Amino acid sequence: MNRISIKYKGPLRGEVTTPPDKSISHRAIMFSSLAEGRSVVRNFLQAEDPLRTLEAFKQMGVEIRGQGSGVRGQNSEIIIQGKGLHGLTQPKNIIDCGNSGTTMRLLSGVLAAQPFPSTLTGDSSLRSRPMKRVITPLSEMGAVIESENGFPPLRIKGSKLTPISYKSPVASAQVKSAIMLAGLYCDGITTVIEPGKSRDHTERMLKASGVDISIKDLEVSVRGIASLKPMDITVPGDLSSAAFFIVAGLLVPQSEILIKNTGINPTRSGLIDVLHLMGAQIRLENERVVSGEPVADLSVKYSHLKGVDIGVGLVLRAIDEFPIICVAAAKAAGTTRITGAKELRVKESDRIASMAAELRKMDVNIEELEDGLIIEGREDLKPAAAVSYGDHRIAMSMLIAGLTASGETTVDDADCVNTSFPGFMEMLKSLGA
Ligand code: S3P
Repeated sequence: MNRISIKYKGPLRGEVTTPPDKSISHRAIMFSSLAEGRSVVRNFLQAEDPLRTLEAFKQMGVEIRGQGSGVRGQNSEIIIQGKGLHGLTQPKNIIDCGNSGTTMRLLSGVLAAQPFPSTLTGDSSLRSRPMKRVITPLSEMGAVIESENGFPPLRIKGSKLTPISYKSPVASAQVKSAIMLAGLYCDGITTVIEPGKSRDHTERMLKASGVDISIKDLEVSVRGIASLKPMDITVPGDLSSAAFFIVAGLLVPQSEILIKNTGINPTRSGLIDVLHLMGAQIRLENERVVSGEPVADLSVKYSHLKGVDIGVGLVLRAIDEFPIICVAAAKAAGTTRITGAKELRVKESDRIASMAAELRKMDVNIEELEDGLIIEGREDLKPAAAVSYGDHRIAMSMLIAGLTASGETTVDDADCVNTSFPGFMEMLKSLGA
């Protein structure tokens, strides 16, 4: 159990490069493994979550080389010898997805269509996350999946699947992607209709892999296919990791930083919109497209933030940024009201309850709602002894909160930062923290 201490030292100044995107790193390994031939993935995120996906495909006979060749992904080059959609072999062991919901849910879509049985498990956090959301549609397609009452482990007996048109009760890229992956193995067209638009990295990457995919608003359809084209992809930086630096730059007085190579995919960029509404000085520079994904450098200056109302549309486009948005709200003038965020109760921790409990320790006035929070901003945060709940984004958010407090804050059980952002503290120190 690792404890990190943090306190204000002075303004944050300088440049950092955003670490590689976690969602895209998972998908790059999956789609390359299922493609026919040799793929190259540059700037792959060398963090615990995507490495779980990489290990899973290795276990199923895919040759993957080069993962040790870069510091946390920067300049790394992974070579994947894809086995084709039908070339995976039965894993010898249970596949351990660790903390990674993306590994478990997306992989279940692939495994549902394999001619061999498999079992997926994870750490205690993942074993308490709902899996019915993928079990239901995959079972409708013909898979047989046993679980512990809708929770992992998942014992999957793959079979020949039939296409479905599925109206998902949740807006979830993991659910949508699992169904689309299973749909690749079907004869005909599989459709997913979401209640709100979730991130679209799978759609972008499948299109680049040669899949016939059509997107109409909230409806995505894929046609089954015999083989995927291999890819040559450079993973852009992860806005969900940059988020901690953006908010730190806004909250620490006199800071001025440049956060380079940050993904700004519109299905993910709600954080920037929320912070602009709060009065943040964030400028997008050098906008470009990297491997089919929009990217920019973000110039961030210390700003006086004000409280805002954040409803379901913005929440969905900033779903993983909620904990750090709570920190921005805690330091903003006035009240911030976040609603329509019920999904946050089933993330790596119950992020509504976690953030309410931890920010209260800093004397922030917070009301917990079933689907969100009401946060009264204050000028000074009291230093606190915070805990992470084993949730990487809670740990990093509380460290940034600590950086803006008047004294030393500690965060216990902070190892979990490595789930998505090894080197987080070093990067923060490089800016003078
Ligand atoms: C992810 C989708 C989101 C997000 C998670 C990563 C993905 O989850 O919260 O961190 O890579 O598809 P949901 O699909 O549960 O919304």
